[in-house]
Amino acid sequence: MRIQAYLDDPLECPADVLVVGVPQGAKTLRGLAAGVNRRLNGALSEILAKEKFTGEAEATVLLHTLGRLRARRVCAVGLGKPGEAGPDRHRRVYARAVQAARSVRARSLAVPLFRRNGKEVPPRETAQSAAEGLLLGSYDFARYRKDPGAEAPGRALLLLESGTSAAEVRAGIRDAVVAAGAVNFARDLVNEPGNVINPRTLAARARALARGTGMSCRILTEKEIARMGMGAYLGVAQGSANPPRFIHVTYRPRRRGARGSVALVGKGMTFDSGGLSLKPSEAMRTMKMDKSGACTVLAVMRALPEVRPAVTVHGIVAAAENMPGGRAQRPDDIVRAMNGKTIEVLNTDAEGRLTLADALSYAARLKPDRIIDLATLTGACVVALGEYTAGVMGNDQALLDRFLECAREAGEQMWPLPLDENMKDKLKSRVADLKNIGNRWGGAITAGMFLREFVGETPWVHVDIAGPAFHDKGWGYNPPGATGVGVRAVLRYLASL
Ligand code: BES
Ligand code: MN
Ligand code: ZN
Repeated sequence: MRIQAYLDDPLECPADVLVVGVPQGAKTLRGLAAGVNRRLNGALSEILAKEKFTGEAEATVLLHTLGRLRARRVCAVGLGKPGEAGPDRHRRVYARAVQAARSVRARSLAVPLFRRNGKEVPPRETAQSAAEGLLLGSYDFARYRKDPGAEAPGRALLLLESGTSAAEVRAGIRDAVVAAGAVNFARDLVNEPGNVINPRTLAARARALARGTGMSCRILTEKEIARMGMGAYLGVAQGSANPPRFIHVTYRPRRRGARGSVALVGKGMTFDSGGLSLKPSEAMRTMKMDKSGACTVLAVMRALPEVRPAVTVHGIVAAAENMPGGRAQRPDDIVRAMNGKTIEVLNTDAEGRLTLADALSYAARLKPDRIIDLATLTGACVVALGEYTAGVMGNDQALLDRFLECAREAGEQMWPLPLDENMKDKLKSRVADLKNIGNRWGGAITAGMFLREFVGETPWVHVDIAGPAFHDKGWGYNPPGATGVGVRAVLRYLASL
């Protein structure tokens, strides 16, 4: 979708659908809505009353203009209570508008740049959240369908009040195109099923996104992974006919004086059957999404040559497929990770932490200033925080605070969970340094504490995205399927350094 700033009279703008906003509880229509209502001889207010439309956030009503306006239809969208109009509400309103326009097969829509709450939010920020809502809300994974369904409008006009800086707005639109482009890239990759994306094809995608950008891309084969001593990772990978691939993409800032380095590590299970500790069918469904962390990392890497942060960034993925089979690892197996620690594998379905043990050891050996990992790691995290919120853990309070702040600014719901020393004993094994599962309680936390054993002294945050990574139904500006969670938070964090 192309998004343009539009400065002329909105009543005359060339678009199939003209969107007007209605705040909740407003007694009379104002601004553009009032202008439209006059042109329609009061039809808008009459229909809104008949539909009992109160301006509740994200509610929409569509009506024909019967030739009284250049736009063929008008869409009234509820803006909610004025006090609640934060950035995420803003994104959701635009997503609803674009979904309404799509439902009537509009090719274009025009929508005002609504105000956001807070003292003087600069137009660049407002334009960014508006454009993100449009771009994220119109995503559809349609490539395998014969009937593409109603396609999203190809063009959107952002209507500016006079006095708004068009240059600022255009900059905000550009920011959104980069951020939402990265999110939609991650969504596309996660939505690809396991018969298309396996460790090898994922590595090929990584190589392709680095090509011609100046970023380097190193791919390790199974032999090289073995030579590195990544026994925990190999144990997971060995049950699959699809061999593992270790992916390492590096971005280096062009200007000298780089402000340190960050390693991003993503869990890249291209499919998680559970292995010999096989998942029941219901739980196995959607496990193509177990590569979400990896896809988030790759999507961020792909955006970096454009974002050009002043830090070196490593993107690291230990890609594997967790399958049962004659060569699969068994419960009770003991494996050795790259950092020398041995692990007793009590449940082959707790495989993410085994691959991450080696990916984090590798990352720590690069001596980065910080490590951020993203992983669809535990069902327990979904039990704790629900499907919409990622759990965030780590070993460095300043980094945790900073990262959570960036997530909040980016409009991604993330919440801290404590690494609780009382629970450390749960990971003690009689026969190895660690075991790979705790007990029933606090499963997201014991998983986080397991990972901590592999980052050494490096400041590190772990983001468990098992809940928000994938939704059969979708919500807000997330259409059904993969959400691309984490991309905007991490991009924001990197840009802030
Ligand atoms: N990939 C799953 C976690 C998961 C579950 C992600 C649901 C998204 C939705 C992970 O590999 C897993 O199977 N974890 C186990 C750990 C357990 C065996 C300790 C789990 O959460 O049940
Ligand atoms: Mn698993
Ligand atoms: Zn998994």
